[in-house]
Amino acid sequence: MRIAIVKNAKELGERAFVEIKKVISEKPDAVIGFATGATPVALYEKMADDHKHGGLSYKQVKAFNLDEYVGVDPNGKASFKRFMADTLFSKIDIDPANTDIPNGMAQDLEAECARYSAAIKENPADLQILGIGENGHIAFNEPYTKPDEPTHIALLTASTRAANASAFKDPSLVPQYALTMGINEILTAKRILLLALGERKAQAIYDMIMGRDDTSCPATALRKHPDVTVVLDREAASLLTIKEWEKGSAQAEESAEAPATEQTEEAEQTPVAEQTEEAEQTPVAEQPAETEQAEEQPEVREEAAESAPEAEAETEEQVEETSAPVEEEVAESGPPTDEVPTYPEEQEEVAATYEDAGEEAEVEDLTVQEEPAQENRGKKKKKHRR
Ligand code: PGA
Repeated sequence: MRIAIVKNAKELGERAFVEIKKVISEKPDAVIGFATGATPVALYEKMADDHKHGGLSYKQVKAFNLDEYVGVDPNGKASFKRFMADTLFSKIDIDPANTDIPNGMAQDLEAECARYSAAIKENPADLQILGIGENGHIAFNEPYTKPDEPTHIALLTASTRAANASAFKDPSLVPQYALTMGINEILTAKRILLLALGERKAQAIYDMIMGRDDTSCPATALRKHPDVTVVLDREAASLLTIKEWEKGSAQAEESAEAPATEQTEEAEQTPVAEQTEEAEQTPVAEQPAETEQAEEQPEVREEAAESAPEAEAETEEQVEETSAPVEEEVAESGPPTDEVPTYPEEQEEVAATYEDAGEEAEVEDLTVQEEPAQENRGKKKKKHRR
């Protein structure tokens, strides 16, 4: 699992587009699995813009969407079919005959699910784009969905219906059911690109990457996949870096007079998070994902933590503020809170998580060259509003 942390929706679109370009340049008749929702809009804008300016052609591309509401007019604004047409398909040269989405108006929904499952089996995605729900769902596979369920009729949770209410005149009009590709069907894609923006997604992202590996967070299934790229903004990544912020804050204190280049390789490559003052000072590293990094850096971290008790205390406050839900969640569904390791043990825990998942994660940050650590000190908190 590779994790790229970007500054905002626009950068997310640009970073995600790199993956699309890679796949379609290699294979012009690629099968792309598309997702709906607010998150991929920046990517679709980038695709449309690139195409308009003579970039990629989608003439031979085949598109399959993840899901669709049951009982919503496909021409109506709330339908995912219409969303795809308005947001992307009408702006690129894809052949509408090459686009498919479950038909939530089918007379026989079971038969429609079987049709869609067969179509996916015949056309496994070269790249599957995914969002993530606040409850960790992927497509409309809500918590506790069995991974081996093929395309099926899903009962939407109250939180999912609430999150999707803005497309409907009245929240009560959000359908209770949707047709959705199944989890294992999603995993048949050769590559997966999961996108998330905003604080609302931070818990789900934490659970997906570091939480207990079970169906309570359907996105944890992605740990089994060998080629997953996760592109996040800093808010969505915020819970992944709590202990790193602690370290980063201390490190920043210590190196206030030292140029950023004197920090470790990882620190140089990683961004300074902007969410809080503490975070602004952090040459954050998203080592949660990377065993090797965890092994390479302990000295710096320990040293930093020891040398800046003040910063540590300050950050402690922030941890309390921002991590309370995490701790509750951990206490409920994972290791007890008092077992949540503190730095540097946390790194070992993380490494173990990844070893368990049998995968390797890399963290990438696109912002570092533009925004060296020293320039970020004192910036105000930034939030994405969508
Ligand atoms: P969003 O939805 O992009 O609108 O946040 C994502 C999802 O629910 O999967």
